[in-house]
Amino acid sequence: MSAYLSEFSSLLLRWLHVVAAIAWIGESIYFVMLDNSLRPPQRQQEADQGVHGEMFAVHGGGFYHNRKFLTRAPQIGPELHWSFWKAYTTWLSGFALFAVIYLASPQLYLINAQSPWEWARSLSGMQAGTLAVGYLIVGWLAYDQLCRRISPNMQRDGILSLAVAVLMIVIAWSTSQIFPGRAAFLITAAVMATAMSANVFFWIIPGQRRMVRALTSGTQPDPLDGSRGKQRSVHNTYFTLPVVLLMLSNHYAFLYRAPYNWLVMSLFILSGALIRQYFVQRHSKTQHWGYIVFGVALIVVAAWFARPGQDQASTTATDTASASQETADLAQVKAVIGQRCIQCHAARPSMDGFSSPPAGIELETSGQLTQQADTIKRVVADNTMPLGNVTGMTASERDIIAAWQP
Ligand code: HEC
Repeated sequence: MSAYLSEFSSLLLRWLHVVAAIAWIGESIYFVMLDNSLRPPQRQQEADQGVHGEMFAVHGGGFYHNRKFLTRAPQIGPELHWSFWKAYTTWLSGFALFAVIYLASPQLYLINAQSPWEWARSLSGMQAGTLAVGYLIVGWLAYDQLCRRISPNMQRDGILSLAVAVLMIVIAWSTSQIFPGRAAFLITAAVMATAMSANVFFWIIPGQRRMVRALTSGTQPDPLDGSRGKQRSVHNTYFTLPVVLLMLSNHYAFLYRAPYNWLVMSLFILSGALIRQYFVQRHSKTQHWGYIVFGVALIVVAAWFARPGQDQASTTATDTASASQETADLAQVKAVIGQRCIQCHAARPSMDGFSSPPAGIELETSGQLTQQADTIKRVVADNTMPLGNVTGMTASERDIIAAWQP
């Protein structure tokens, strides 16, 4: 029952998380479009009032006339619309989801028995969870320091973008060495998403509060508050496509299981930013096809690196198997699976925390085994299963599965 309740609450959290993220990113994409679609005001009177740009739009059965003021604003009405709860809700629900799945079962999701680093293989669950959360905090601090040191007055934003890209590649690479691939993709995405929410929390909103305070007290707002808020929200827009892709990667094992998964991840991060750049520029009518062409080219390279059949683990396992064992029959396979897999992959799992067979995969009957033989052989050969090897599957048991010719 408690496993069922925790699964149900993870469903509700995921629902909230995705809806809040859609609302946040949707609004952010809308405002980037609005900003880049602004044209100088047509009427002199508006220019005199300090209108920086305007946009006309038709939507929902009516016409809109948006006007943007920078530091000179008209009388601000009593209802000033702020945007921040969508960002905070997205982060809080995302972190809660990470906690109930990954932090609650670090042995299953955060320990990488295949890590090339000895210390990473021998982390305790508590240490692995702390390290994962540490990535979010240190990732934000590092990104924030890059912004403050490289382009404090927005004069070197180009170099800053390059530095942020390098930082993300370092994070993608190091998480992939330390954590299982699935967690590495998620943590890298969460580092970007944390920076996005922290940009809103620490820079964009406080800057806007100072501007509003200045305007309502009749003094001149600091233009740096406006341009810095703009710098951080532009970063947020380049993070959006990569974050969404990496979050979805959890459903595509071929991405995070690829031998060069950190490279696949980095290529998608760069490609997402480039493709976003094309769409940002499109609104200001200065788009360059180069961005989208280059972005798509990087996806093709990523597809090549993630292509099937080049996993070293599976070839070694098969080689040793053919050396040590000619063939294995269904009875042998069933005995191994019965000992190492059905704690989770049964109609009624006995493993703590599972109320239904994970990924809908049941491995109890001979029919179920032969039907899913290819996937079983793949996940056993590349050490993805048993999850976190919590059931202690041995190398010779893996050889039996590899030698099985159903
Ligand atoms: C501790 C519980 C647990 C054990 C033990 C376990 N699995 Fe899994 N298995 C999972 C979970 C959780 C998933 C879903 C993972 C995901 O969503 O990425 C999964 C997914 C799978 C999948 C689908 C993944 C895919 O990429 O298609 C297969 C196949 C699989 N397991 C086979 C096995 C085999 C074979 C064993 C025994 C050698 C095994 N599992 C042992 C928990 C377990």
